Amino acid sequence: MAATVGPLTTRKKHLLLILCGKMTTPASKKTLYLSIITAICLIGSILAFFLYFEPPSPVCPPTLAHEGNRQGMDPNGKPIVLVWFWPLAKFDLKMCFTYFNIDSCVLTDNRTLYSKAQGVIFFHKHINWHLQNMPREPRPAFQKWIWFHVESPTNTKKIPGLDHFFNLTLNYRRDADITVRNELTIRKTEMKDDFVLPMKDKLVCWMVSNHNPATGTAVREQYYRELSKHIKIHVFGKAYGGQHLSHEDHYSTIASCKFYLSFENSIHRDYITEKVNGPLVAGTVPVVLGPPRENYEQFLPADAFIHINDFPDAKSLADFLLDIKDEAYARYFEWRKFYTAVPHMRAFYNGFIRPVCLACDHMSRDKDFSVVHDLYDWYFT
Ligand SMILES: *[C@@H]1O[C@H](CO)[C@@H](O)[C@H](O)[C@H]1NC(C)=O
Ligand SMILES: *[C@@H]1O[C@H](CO)[C@@H](O)[C@H](O)[C@H]1NC(C)=O
Repeated sequence: MAATVGPLTTRKKHLLLILCGKMTTPASKKTLYLSIITAICLIGSILAFFLYFEPPSPVCPPTLAHEGNRQGMDPNGKPIVLVWFWPLAKFDLKMCFTYFNIDSCVLTDNRTLYSKAQGVIFFHKHINWHLQNMPREPRPAFQKWIWFHVESPTNTKKIPGLDHFFNLTLNYRRDADITVRNELTIRKTEMKDDFVLPMKDKLVCWMVSNHNPATGTAVREQYYRELSKHIKIHVFGKAYGGQHLSHEDHYSTIASCKFYLSFENSIHRDYITEKVNGPLVAGTVPVVLGPPRENYEQFLPADAFIHINDFPDAKSLADFLLDIKDEAYARYFEWRKFYTAVPHMRAFYNGFIRPVCLACDHMSRDKDFSVVHDLYDWYFT
């Protein structure tokens, strides 16, 4: 240090004398030298700035460089997700935040934002046969089209032209890109043991509004007919002229039954709906008809339900339900020590809010290129 400071101090002595007009003490000399060095550096920096940094030109805004990463985003960096068709009913898109605490995208139904949207959700049922109600403008390279469908394959129209068309699937299947499990929501919880078995005044109940065989209901209808020969079944809902229940009475009615028939309208892998969630929430044992037991066990504790295939026929099932002892019955509620069933939204159209919200959330994380090549091959096999 001394070697460099030494010659510098001698060289600057004259300058100092001119600047200060007098000789200074060694201590204040040092301070002065430092100030001068600082001043020189500062001037140097300012000169360098003007020499090397051009002021921003109005022709080429500096934000253009960022634009590549920001396509499909709003100014806050949230992806814009466009709901192309409303699924069955319109709802307030703010509900994603209200109900599911999802606020990670900008949801809109405003089609003028099409070219800016990073995701576009298409409700399968509303796509028309010749795709005329799909976007006319070309799809921006950054944009993803989301196939939104929650009906089982039996109730799916095979609209032509949808292979290599979408980028993401939004469906109940576990292998969908965005899985939405028909509100079957069992959560692991802290050990809690405050469950009180509701009072039961009915043995078996069933709520059913649809028995149109075209929707695949023949299997469950036949099983119901057979089962009802051996055990009394309280039927609610319009399908078999049963009593109508309001939403408010839904859970309390299920709770008053010892068993509840959770019969799916059609039988497909992963197609396990809110028909099972209802009794689990209410404190009733679901008797399920649908895909094989192993499939249910991928979503539910094995001892939370009875599967019709656990018995060789409807009569054996009826005998089992009629004879069950309190102790054996109580074992169907053991899972509650470890899990909680979450009530699903009851109003019919509400079932469509959560999928849209989940798609919104997915888009905020999705960064990869993807194409759904063989939509129907995937869905129907
Ligand atoms: C749709 O978005 C455009 C462009 O941002 C805007 O001008 C228009 O007012 C919006 N329409 C509705 C119905 O919000
Ligand atoms: C979305 O799918 C289309 C159709 O196959 C494809 O051309 C496009 O590159 C995909 N885009 C992204 C962002 O994955």
